[in-house]
Amino acid sequence: MDFTVETATDAVVESFRQTKGQRLRQVMESLTRHLHDFVRDIEPTTAEWEAAIGFLTAVGQTCDDTRQEFVLLSDVLGVSMLVETLNGSDEGTESTVLGPFHMTESPLRELGDSIDLLGTGRPCVVSGRTLAADGTPLPDTELDVWQCTEDGFYDVQQPDVQPQGNGRGLFRTDDQGRYWFRTVVPSHYPIPTDGPVGRLLEATGRHPFRPAHIHFIAHAGHHRPVTTHAFVAGSPYVDSDAVFAVKRGLITDFTESYEEQEAERFGVTVPFTHATFDIVLAPEAESAR
Ligand code: BEZ
Ligand code: FE
Repeated sequence: MDFTVETATDAVVESFRQTKGQRLRQVMESLTRHLHDFVRDIEPTTAEWEAAIGFLTAVGQTCDDTRQEFVLLSDVLGVSMLVETLNGSDEGTESTVLGPFHMTESPLRELGDSIDLLGTGRPCVVSGRTLAADGTPLPDTELDVWQCTEDGFYDVQQPDVQPQGNGRGLFRTDDQGRYWFRTVVPSHYPIPTDGPVGRLLEATGRHPFRPAHIHFIAHAGHHRPVTTHAFVAGSPYVDSDAVFAVKRGLITDFTESYEEQEAERFGVTVPFTHATFDIVLAPEAESAR
């Protein structure tokens, strides 16, 4: 059969017929159909297709041990959040993207410790509980936390300014599932724009900003781990996150507190900012038991 615009898709799908793995065959068939439909739809010139290949090549060449431009591309196209959402559970706290700044192991910390190693910002306390879907507290949950500074930078972006581990902590909830730590209120910030993904945003008139947030990964026995964020209510870009990760239930009030007793309990002085963020973990999937 001649290779024509009309027969192309069947020819390529047929070439994958012998694929041993059923899932791989399904993936390659669907990829072929969608990719061919896309090409038939936009009818690229040869020069445009070369530019597309050049773009993907540049994305790959921008990746190294500490930079993952393909993940960033997946993020700005909404694919990372689509995959997260498809795999999330209806029962627990909603999940969001991991992002590229969870690249170092967070330092072990005690409940109440400060993750702000600079000590120059206005004190903020973040506290909450980890709970099962029926409301039972989950003691001994491992909570990995990371965030940027008040100026919008992660420690790994400013190795000469911030000590390693600044803004990061690995905590365990107490016997009532509670956690609390001291920090500063993070800022909104731009995702890295000095690579091909930044050029794509620029060319399409999109801004690169993420609303202010704190990242969490929670792990407890017999429950599905969750990767999520607490978003700072009222932050710029909360309605237009460059990576589409905001879910309404994750928007958290960071309020000014003058409560002397609370301040004493948390080891800060008034006024301080206080945010409460509970994390609900769904039961482990049947197949994982
Ligand atoms: C982050 O929140 O750290 C992040 C997520 C996606 C892309 C860039 C940064
Ligand atoms: Fe972040």
